[in-house]
Amino acid sequence: MPKKTVYDLPTVHGQRVLVRVDFNVPLTPTGAIANDRRIRKTLPTIQYLVEKGACSIVMSHLGRPTGDPQADAIYRMDRVAHRLEELLGRPVRKADEVVGPAVERAVAALAPGDVLVLENLRFHPGEKAGDAAFARSLANLGTIYVNDAFGTCHNTDASMVAVPRAMQDRPRVAGLLLARELEVLTHLLENPQRPLVGIVGGAKVSDKIAFLRSLLGRVDRLLVGGAMTYTFMKAQGRSIGSSRCENERLDLARELLAQAGDRLLLPEDHVVADRPSADAHTRVVAGDIPEGWYGMDIGPQTRERYAAWIRRAGTVVWNGPMGKFEDAPFAQGTRAVAHALADSQAVTIVGGGETAEAVESFGLDSRIAHVSTGGGAFLEFLSGSRLPGLEYLEERT
Ligand code: 3PG
Repeated sequence: MPKKTVYDLPTVHGQRVLVRVDFNVPLTPTGAIANDRRIRKTLPTIQYLVEKGACSIVMSHLGRPTGDPQADAIYRMDRVAHRLEELLGRPVRKADEVVGPAVERAVAALAPGDVLVLENLRFHPGEKAGDAAFARSLANLGTIYVNDAFGTCHNTDASMVAVPRAMQDRPRVAGLLLARELEVLTHLLENPQRPLVGIVGGAKVSDKIAFLRSLLGRVDRLLVGGAMTYTFMKAQGRSIGSSRCENERLDLARELLAQAGDRLLLPEDHVVADRPSADAHTRVVAGDIPEGWYGMDIGPQTRERYAAWIRRAGTVVWNGPMGKFEDAPFAQGTRAVAHALADSQAVTIVGGGETAEAVESFGLDSRIAHVSTGGGAFLEFLSGSRLPGLEYLEERT
């Protein structure tokens, strides 16, 4: 059942709207915002609330603070609030606390159309603990709860579950980003245009067991890339040279290969290197990987073959790079797959932080039907798991 959204709210003007967003953006070592995509993606919801005269109280976590104030300083929300202000083109206030009297005063001072960003929710231990008393302090700030944090919906943090639970006497709806994510991903699970082609990459089979099983139950073809390739190859008894391999997952890999039959495609050629490093000597090999060489990317024949599958697909879902794409010599596989998706007529869906960043770094994100803001949430939703962050949102009847 679809969730109610901000469009379903009867009155917004003058309401204190608690908006949970996922502003957990990647940071540079000095704390600058490396990529503001997650902030940009929530603008439609915040702009809508501003235009309707809501008093918006925006809250998010950022990073994984440890409790050490000095080390945690880069996780303060000031830069995020500042970036939001630039993108909105209007003043954004920032509270230096998460809850407490100063926050309550800042909320009381809000006028219709104002936006206040709270300090990093994870600076308070109650957030990760899902603490009910902390959640009540947040809940008391708002008359309406909006969840636009798809990327965090797989977590049970207080602001995702205990806060809407404490606000069951008030409206609790999805923001426009969350609603769009749920619509696209639900359609993918329930009624995809076929053939449905899944593309999975990344380092480890073990990070994506449920996702791989779920995809294998749905897809017409599963194209595999990234270092997980070598675990699958070794499980088939093939030589992988010095390539990365999860030796303790070979039984699992065999089980997945048996489940998949001929629907799972492994790379038929590889870019290999004499060291796992950007300045290594590289070459292309077909079939197995020779002793002493490291598999680093899919090879040119595989790029062609995967692109052909993407061309004939009705829907493509992609998570995980095809090689160590952050190093230029090993970026061609990921780049080729990104271009094939951009050129395809299929419904194209990309998810996961690294994959979304790759597509964006190639300048192709506007040519993909849906680039999800979820990493873990994307994998869990498509694995068929129930996301805790959705539980207390009202359903459309
Ligand atoms: C994410 O980036 O996946 C979400 O913001 C959740 O962050 P977390 O993995 O630190 O809980």
